[in-house]
Amino acid sequence: AIDINNLRSESGYITLDSGYKNTGATESAITFLDGEEGILRYRGYPIEQLAEESSFIEVAYLLIYGSLPTQEQLDSFTNEIKIHTLVNEDMRKILDGFPSAAHPMGILSALVSSLTAFYPESLNPNQKKEELDLSIVRLMAKMPTIAAWSYKNSIGHPVNYPKNKLDYCSNFLHMMFAYPTEDYQIDPVVVKALNKLLILHADHEQNCSTSTVRLVGSANASLYSSVSAGISALWGPLHGGANQAVIEMLEQIKADGGDSKKFIAKAKDKDDPFRLMGFGHRVYKNFDPRATIIKKAADEVLTALGVKDPILDIAKELEEAALTDQYFVDRKLYPNVDFYSGIIYRALGIPTDMFTVMFALGRLPGWISQWKEMREQKEPIGRPRQVYVGEKERNYVQMNGR
Ligand code: ACO
Repeated sequence: AIDINNLRSESGYITLDSGYKNTGATESAITFLDGEEGILRYRGYPIEQLAEESSFIEVAYLLIYGSLPTQEQLDSFTNEIKIHTLVNEDMRKILDGFPSAAHPMGILSALVSSLTAFYPESLNPNQKKEELDLSIVRLMAKMPTIAAWSYKNSIGHPVNYPKNKLDYCSNFLHMMFAYPTEDYQIDPVVVKALNKLLILHADHEQNCSTSTVRLVGSANASLYSSVSAGISALWGPLHGGANQAVIEMLEQIKADGGDSKKFIAKAKDKDDPFRLMGFGHRVYKNFDPRATIIKKAADEVLTALGVKDPILDIAKELEEAALTDQYFVDRKLYPNVDFYSGIIYRALGIPTDMFTVMFALGRLPGWISQWKEMREQKEPIGRPRQVYVGEKERNYVQMNGR
C-alpha cells in the first residue's frame, strides 16, 4: 500500500507514472506523433513524403536546424560532413582492444564516448554556435566510420578508410563491404533502401534512447557522452535491439519447423516470457506508419535484388495470424518499424548483430536535434522523484543480533 503522505513534496504532489506512460518530459517542436491515427511528421513534414522524396542528409539537416535546407545549405552541410569522416588513428588502438566477439553496439557506444578525448572542447556545455555546429558535423561524419569499423573488427578484417567522393550511404557501404584488394560495386537499389531506412528511424520524439540523451545532457554532459548513453539505451531488445531479436525469432521459428501459430500461442501464454518481437508499441495503437512504408520497401528490395528469403514468408504468416487473433486485436498489437527493417537489412547483406547499429546511424540526427533543443530551451536538470515504499526508520542491529 502506498502512503499518501509520500506523494507530497515541498513543491506539491508527486505523480507516479511508471514507465512515463502519460508524462510529458518536455515541450518539443521536432517530431509530431499521433499514435491513434498513425501519423508521424518531422518538423511538420509527413514521414511518407520524406521517405519518398528526400535524402538522409537532407532529413538530418531538417531535424537539426528546423527547416529543409536550400541547395547551398545542403551542399555546405554535406561537404562539412565529408571533411570529417576520418577518425583519429589512435581510435584504432581503442578498437584493437576489443575482442572480435564484442557486440558492435558496445563498441559504438564506447568509441562515440571516446570522441570526448579527441575533441575535449566538446565538453564545454556552452559551446558557441560555430563550435557546436562543428561538434555536430564531426559526430554525423564519424559515426558511419566507427560503425563500419566495429563490424570489420568483429570479422577480423582490416578497416576501410572513408571515400569522400561517395555520398553518405554509399560511403558507409564501402567501409562495410569493400575489400582492400578488390573493386566494390555499390548497388543503387541498396543505397536507396538504406537512405529510406535511415530516414524512417531518424527521430521518434521522447522514446527511451532519446529521453536518455536529453536526461544525460540535462546535467550539462557533452553531446558525445549523451549520445553514447543513448546508444546504450537503444541496444535493449525492447527498444532498438528488437530488429535483431525479430530475425533471431524468425530463425527460431524456421528451425522449429515454421509453425507460426505455435509461437503465437507462446506469446499469449503469460507464464512464457516469449513475446512476438517486432509487435506492439507504446504509442502506436492503430498502426506504425513506418512499418507500412518498410513492408512495401522490403518487397521492392527483395524483388530488385532477386533475394528469396524464407524468413519473409514466415514473417508474413506471423503477421496475418497475429492480426486476426483476438489477443493481439484486443491489445492493439501491430507490427512496428522493426518487424520488417531486419528483413531489408538482411537482404542488403548487413549482418544481424549490426542491425541495431544501423538503427543508431539513423537515429543520430534525432538525438542531436533533441539534445540541441534541450540546451536551447535551457531545460533544468532532469531529476524524477519517487514514492518511497521501503522500511520505516529502524535502529542499527549489531552483527550478533541479526
Ligand atoms: N507479444 C505478446 N504480448 C505483448 C507484446 C508482444 N510483442 N507486446 C505487448 N504485449 C502484451 C503485454 O503482455 C500486455 O498484456 P496484458 O495487458 O495482458 O498484461 C499488453 O500487451 C500491453 O503491453 P505492455 O508491455 O504493457 O506495453 P508497453 O507499452 O509497456 O510496451 C513494447 C511496448 C515494449 C514495445 C512491447 O509491446 C514489446 O515488448 N514489444 C516487443 C518488443 C519490440 O518489438 N520492441 C520494439 C518497439 S519499437 C522501437 O523501440 C523502435
